[in-house]
Amino acid sequence: MSTVGTRSENSFGGDGAAAVPATPAARRAPALSFHPVYNDFYGFLESPFNLTPDPRFLFFSDKHREAFHHVLFGIRERKGFIQLTGEVGAGKTTVCRALLAELGEGYQTALILNPMVSGTQLLRSILTELGLEPPRTDRTAYLEVLNTFLLEQAEAGRDVVLLVDEAQDLTPELLEQVRLLSNLETDRRKLIQIVLIGQPELRDKLNARSLRQLRQRITVRYHLKPLDLDETERYISHRLLVAGADGRPKFSRGAVRAVHRYARGVPRLINAVCDKALLYGYVNATYELKSRAIRQAIRELEGAA
Ligand SMILES: Nc1ncnc2c1ncn2[C@@H]1O[C@H](COP(=O)(O)OP(=O)(O)OP(=O)(O)O)[C@@H](O)[C@H]1O
Ligand SMILES: [Mg+2]
Repeated sequence: MSTVGTRSENSFGGDGAAAVPATPAARRAPALSFHPVYNDFYGFLESPFNLTPDPRFLFFSDKHREAFHHVLFGIRERKGFIQLTGEVGAGKTTVCRALLAELGEGYQTALILNPMVSGTQLLRSILTELGLEPPRTDRTAYLEVLNTFLLEQAEAGRDVVLLVDEAQDLTPELLEQVRLLSNLETDRRKLIQIVLIGQPELRDKLNARSLRQLRQRITVRYHLKPLDLDETERYISHRLLVAGADGRPKFSRGAVRAVHRYARGVPRLINAVCDKALLYGYVNATYELKSRAIRQAIRELEGAA
């Protein structure tokens, strides 16, 4: 997304402004690299609006903080099943990665990112993620290995947490299989905490009658909503700061409003439009990004520029 080549490869800069990037460093920028050409121009140490769910960039809006603490509480209090939903691009995976970093030593965690597999493959991935060697046999053997591991961990005082991202893609059969995993328990407690993370379709899926047993077991739920206007402004500033920005560029209030209107507070879209706006500033040799820059960035994103 943020890989942008030379000026001739994009349609920015048509308003007659500086044809050559303003700083010598920017002029030296390679024509094609994974390092956006504008980083040197603005003095960034890294790209502020990458599309990866990097927890180092996490901006704790009230919503993201609540999401984080709800899930953390559920895990720490051993609530069994926890559900985190949110719109596409709202920041669920980012929160989830930050949680993994927070849990640290006392927890064994398995993060499943691509659950569109068969039941047996899912179990295999869980074992692999937990650092276990899946036996060369069948599902029953997988379950035995998992059960033994869970008991060992419980004895050692460590909790095991399974996080299933993109859980909206799980078929009802797989969801049911995940529920069965939570039956692994001693007479005192559940041996595994399971966090289901997914888009709003996950909620609809869980409303199916056939999944009511699972639904009843989910005791902690959080739905991550998009950012409001003020949060969008702070989000942009935060990401610029983490990237090493030193007071520039400046997004005017009108620019932020235009970003918010377009992205409707969805962080992934905010990133996409801000990335293009930064390119616009670079091409036009300006650190002041106003609504015009955002309009142009949106046109570029929509492929209409
Ligand atoms: N609170 C936040 N702080 C910083 N960056 C964020 C935040 N929330 C989201 N982002 C950024 O927005 C982009 C999308 O985030 P993420 O991938 O976590 O969304 P998602 O909800 O998991 O999306 P999907 O529904 O497609 O799985 C990423 O670039 C991520 O870094
Ligand atoms: Mg995600």
